[in-house]
Amino acid sequence: MGACGSKQDASPKKSGLNTGKGKLQDSGSTAECKVVFLGDSAVGKSSISQRFCKNIFTGEHEVTIGGAYIQQKVQLKNGSFLKLHLWDTGGEERFRAMAPLYYRDANAAVLVYDVSNKQTFDSIRYWLNELDTKVKQDGLVLALAGNKCDLPESKRQVTLINAKSFAENNKMIFAETSAKTGDGITVLFQSLAEEITKKVSK
Ligand code: GTP
Ligand code: MG
Repeated sequence: MGACGSKQDASPKKSGLNTGKGKLQDSGSTAECKVVFLGDSAVGKSSISQRFCKNIFTGEHEVTIGGAYIQQKVQLKNGSFLKLHLWDTGGEERFRAMAPLYYRDANAAVLVYDVSNKQTFDSIRYWLNELDTKVKQDGLVLALAGNKCDLPESKRQVTLINAKSFAENNKMIFAETSAKTGDGITVLFQSLAEEITKKVSK
């Protein structure tokens, strides 16, 4: 894994990033792409990106205001690298109107819910619908992440089997993840990177 940069409250425009959906930018030998995180507040979007990029888990809920930017490189099976520009959005209702700024021109969207909160799973339909109506979906790689899978079974409100079949029906990559323990995080981003590369090179 390569080095990681992080910037709070960054505007997507300020990054100067314009991947142009359907293409991967190539900076020297490393291809680059844009990935957006969507989902209700407190499902763990920021925690997943912190675990993936910095291998840390603070256990705190610092509400993301608007969006936060962070990047990480993934090595593909063929040995080459793909740099992921990750846009972590704030899930609070008041930030929903800003979401298009972040998912516009994205190569992939990771929709996150909390396995211990059924309502956050129900919200995934909202995000799918939003992407369906506002983004030309061809070429957009979709992933579903059921986060907080470390919690005890007694707290679970969304079964693995239901979420898996929902993901299959909606052509989404699926993983249950835990930002707390790290379970499923590498697998999720590895699959995402491979799928983005595959889709773009078609
Ligand atoms: P917004 O920025 O408001 O949209 O929230 P978010 O989706 O970024 O949530 P955040 O990552 O801030 O996490 C919310 C809370 O859930 C924090 O207290 C985290 O510590 C906790 N949390 C996140 N991921 C996990 C996980 O995998 N397991 C457990 N047990 N708790 C988690
Ligand atoms: Mg956040």
